[in-house]
Amino acid sequence: MPPEGIQRAIFMTKVMAWDAGCTLLNLVSPSRRAGSVTPQGHPGAQGIWPEFIPPTDSDSRCSCPALNAMANHGILPRDGKNITFGELGARIRTTYNFAPSFCYFVPSYAANMLGKDYAKDTFDLKELDLHNGIEHDASLTRQDVALEPDQSKPYTPFIKELLAEATGEGANGVPLLTIADMSRYSAKRRVEAKETNPDFTLEKIHKTFGSTNASTLLTAFGGRIDDLTPFLLEERLPEGWESSVRAPYGLTIITFNLGTILKVERGIDEETFIAQREAQNKSGGVQDGESGGSHARGSGNSLQAEETSGLLRHRG
Ligand code: HEM
Repeated sequence: MPPEGIQRAIFMTKVMAWDAGCTLLNLVSPSRRAGSVTPQGHPGAQGIWPEFIPPTDSDSRCSCPALNAMANHGILPRDGKNITFGELGARIRTTYNFAPSFCYFVPSYAANMLGKDYAKDTFDLKELDLHNGIEHDASLTRQDVALEPDQSKPYTPFIKELLAEATGEGANGVPLLTIADMSRYSAKRRVEAKETNPDFTLEKIHKTFGSTNASTLLTAFGGRIDDLTPFLLEERLPEGWESSVRAPYGLTIITFNLGTILKVERGIDEETFIAQREAQNKSGGVQDGESGGSHARGSGNSLQAEETSGLLRHRG
């Protein structure tokens, strides 16, 4: 058996080769048609999702709104327990249209993080809340674990603030979150989490996870506020919703990183957020946290105009 570092390098090489293959196939194959993103025979085909039932106290839920929503609709076991890693990947594939490489990589990463065997073991959703595994401080929809040990609970004030950041506009005037909006709100969360959580940590890898998670809202949901509102507040998939990812082989790790994640992370500017907050306080502006907005807009982020136009992809 080669040393662990080499095994990891071989694993990553295989996953990325697979991902590159899917990326190429996406470039040369026609996109999925609107209304046909979730394949026939799977929950959510033609926008018909199994019944939404909110979790009971004995159900297992976690810090990920996407996985909780799947359990709330019975796409994953409703009790959120005894899930196989393979099952997780397969359901993400058909629900959100992420590429098979992504749907294998993230559950494998989770299995490894939990010290479990991808092929043989099962997990409960709650186990994913291992602090500084994938779960981290300065999340968009959860208070830090030091302030709220139950990471399955969406924190409504943050979600409302995030949704209020939307500056983009889609067809029929639908408000959209843009890459710049996401960067701006992430900067606010990072600054304020650091100020309010005495145990605050955010390593580079967790910054990347944060931007990755934020980016799923822009890709799978096209940034649409009308869909993100029930998704984030109730962890419910709206009736008629389907993933905005139309790529025939799904959203690949390469496309996701180059197209969205890196741009969100690069746009996060904590210093500008602090400077604008100070300027607002000096001029007697509204205090943060009371009005539902971050009051630090217009950070001069040049990605905004470019990305707003890039996000005008909608349901049919
Ligand atoms: C593949 C398996 C997945 C696993 C194991 C997973 C796990 C997690 C975990 C542990 C977190 C908490 C991170 C934090 O502390 O903020 C998280 C957050 C998040 N996940 Fe997932 N996730 C998966 C797939 C997805 C998918 C497919 C989507 C969207 C379509 C998604 C959307 C999100 C979002 C938006 C957050 C951010 C919540 C926040 O910042 O408060 N996840 N995920």
